[in-house]
Amino acid sequence: MTQKTLITGRVLEFVGTPFQGDPQDAVQWHGALAVDDGRIVAVGEPDALWEPGMARVDYGDHVISAGFVDAHVHYPQTGIIASWGKRLIDWLNSYTFPEEMRFGDPEYAREIANLYLDLVVSHGTTTVASYCTIHPESVDAIFEAAKERGMAVVAGKTCMDRNAPDGLTDTAQSAYDDSKMLLEKWHGKARAHYAITPRFSPTSSPQQLEALGALWSEHPDCLMQTHLSEQVDEIAWVKELFPDARDYLDTYEQFGLLGARGVYGHAIHLEPREQDRLAELCAGLTHCPTSNTFIGSGLCDVSGLMARGVQVALATDTGGGSSFSMLRTMAAAYEVAQLRGSALHAAHLMYLATEGAARSLHLQSEIGTLRVGTAADLVVLDLASTPAISQRSSRANDIWEALFPTIMMGDDRAVADVWIAGTRRVS
Ligand code: GUN
Ligand code: ZN
Repeated sequence: MTQKTLITGRVLEFVGTPFQGDPQDAVQWHGALAVDDGRIVAVGEPDALWEPGMARVDYGDHVISAGFVDAHVHYPQTGIIASWGKRLIDWLNSYTFPEEMRFGDPEYAREIANLYLDLVVSHGTTTVASYCTIHPESVDAIFEAAKERGMAVVAGKTCMDRNAPDGLTDTAQSAYDDSKMLLEKWHGKARAHYAITPRFSPTSSPQQLEALGALWSEHPDCLMQTHLSEQVDEIAWVKELFPDARDYLDTYEQFGLLGARGVYGHAIHLEPREQDRLAELCAGLTHCPTSNTFIGSGLCDVSGLMARGVQVALATDTGGGSSFSMLRTMAAAYEVAQLRGSALHAAHLMYLATEGAARSLHLQSEIGTLRVGTAADLVVLDLASTPAISQRSSRANDIWEALFPTIMMGDDRAVADVWIAGTRRVS
């Protein structure tokens, strides 16, 4: 048993969704929370929560939130983040695939998995949902690195049996067998959650999609993650490869790869049928704004999708995304929404990076909120982390105006501390 601890500061708790009604009404601000044995045991005011014998950590004016949840990343792309000048398919062939080839070496996979998780934790992220490579070793590496840090992580072997270089393909059968072996090894162990992971329909044959659909139906408690309608050229290619499909989403639906526990990355250029189907099934969609601008994919209409009832999460899409920081990602989401004609409130952005993302991953009973009984995975934000931010937040009239400059201008310097399962990881 650990010592029960009182943590004080400005505690941001969502008590509803900011996408219905006034976004500020979805939040309750408190002065403290109490953690014990890795879990949140109370949220409220310091005097009410204080008990003799407790440890105490005081963060003053810092904001304490549920740790950030990054719902779509590729940890093997850590080393090629910010690679210049290509659009999606060229970018995959020029930068991504050569780097991913290296993950057959378990030592390299371990090195990058550890580096990646240290980077994201220093940026305030306490859970990621990561694609790995085709190599089972790459899955072991991220789950082992997560276990060492006590982190909840979603991951899966990326499956590709066509349109990828030799040395970076599996087959329909080996994708099924390896994915099954890995999910039996990891899913539900410690804080590991397995996601069946066909990369996207251009790199999976119909046979492979069918095999992975069958695997998902045998293990419906697993997540399934893939990419959907990211770039216009990619969508045209999918049409050529699957001439009988109604649309891109149908290339998954036909093979049993559409469901509530599916998490679909990007989904920028959706047809109305695809939007309706995702909403009807409450499937998750990940909005990756730094990636969508960096690779030139397009401006996702997040507010429109949320209004249609689609469950949206925010994500970096490292290394197509240009940052490890969910603060930078929130800033990009704000800018993209402005270009689509809507202004997201700080409460919307914080929700998409915490509870919204956890809901898309069906992990909200474990992460992404400050509800009693959930894991004490926390990020502590300094709202005056640089002179530029400080001079703006010092003029703020309320807490939201004080927080917004950190969302727009902040990075890892704003992350004063991180807690994972009740243990401090940064300070
Ligand atoms: N589509 C298929 N693979 C990828 C990937 O690795 N990154 C991005 N952004 N899109 C993809
Ligand atoms: Zn991706």
